[in-house]
Amino acid sequence: MRVDDRLDLHERINELRARRGAVILAHNYQLGEVQDIADFVGDSLDLSRKAASTSAEVVVFCGVRFMAETAAILSPDKIVLLPALEANCPLADMADAERLGRMKAEHPGAKVVCYVNSSAEVKAESDICCTSANATDVIAQIEPDREIIFLPDQYLGDYVRRVTGRPMILWPGFCPTHMRILPEHIALKRKQYPDARVIVHPECRSEVALEADEVLSTGGMCRYARETDASTIIVGTEVGMIHRLQKGNPDKHFVPVTEQAICPNMKMITLEHVLWALEELEHRIEIPNEISSRAEAAVQRMIATG
Ligand code: 13P
Repeated sequence: MRVDDRLDLHERINELRARRGAVILAHNYQLGEVQDIADFVGDSLDLSRKAASTSAEVVVFCGVRFMAETAAILSPDKIVLLPALEANCPLADMADAERLGRMKAEHPGAKVVCYVNSSAEVKAESDICCTSANATDVIAQIEPDREIIFLPDQYLGDYVRRVTGRPMILWPGFCPTHMRILPEHIALKRKQYPDARVIVHPECRSEVALEADEVLSTGGMCRYARETDASTIIVGTEVGMIHRLQKGNPDKHFVPVTEQAICPNMKMITLEHVLWALEELEHRIEIPNEISSRAEAAVQRMIATG
C-alpha cells in the first residue's frame, strides 16, 4: 500500500472514531500499525480495566475473541466490536463448560480459578478469573485448605503452583504459540548476548520459565523494560511484544527468543479491519444475559484483586 493510502486510512479511522464516540483498545501482541492507532495498548488485565471504566459508547477491541468477550461482559450496554471475527484463542478453545462441570462434580468444594483466556461459558462456571499479571495474588487469597481447579493453561498453573506452593488441579491446556519457545533457543541467545537479561511469559513451558531471569505478564515486561539497567533484553513471548517494548524504550535492544513465536490470530487485525469495524459497527460481540451475569461475577472478583 502506498504512503498516501496509509495516511488516508489513518484519517478515515480518526474521523470515524470521533464520530462514533469510539475507543480503540489493542493488546500488546497486535500488529505495530494497530498498536500505533489505538487509544490504549496493554495486557489482558489493563485492557479489562479500561473496558470496564471507559465512557466511550463503542469499544473496538483489537485482540482475540476472549478479550472482546470480557469487555462485553463488563460493559453489556456498550457496543463491543472484534474487527476480525475469526480471531480466536486456541488456548481458550481447549476448555469447555461441560467438561469443567464434570471436573467440579469430581471435586466438590474446590474453587475454580480460570485464566481470562477462556470462553464466557467457562468463566460463568468459575469462581474467579485471573490474568498472568495477578494469578499469584488470586491464588494466594484462597483459603489454604481449599482444593483449587486451575484452567485452562497448565504452564501458567504450574508457574503459580511453584511460586505460591499451593497444590492445584491443572487443566491440560497450552498456548501453541508459546509452546514454540524452547530452552535451547534461550541457551543460543544467551551465548549471542552474554550480558542480556531474559524475560519470558508464564504461558511458556515450565523448562523455559526455569531458564529465564524473570517470568512476567506482557504488562510486567513493559515495566521491567523501563526499569532494568540491562541494555539488551531477550524476550520470550509472542513477537508483537517487541514493537511495544522497542517503541517505549528506544535506547534499549529487544531480541525475541525465537522469531517463530507468532500468534496467527493476533495478527488477523489490520488497519483496514479497524476501519471496517468502525464503518459497519462489526463484528458485535454479545453474550447472553444468563451467561454474562455469572461470568461477570468471576471477572469483577479478578478486577477487585488488583
Ligand atoms: P497478558 O495478559 O500477559 O497480556 O497475556 C495475554 C495472552 O493472551 C498471552 O498469550
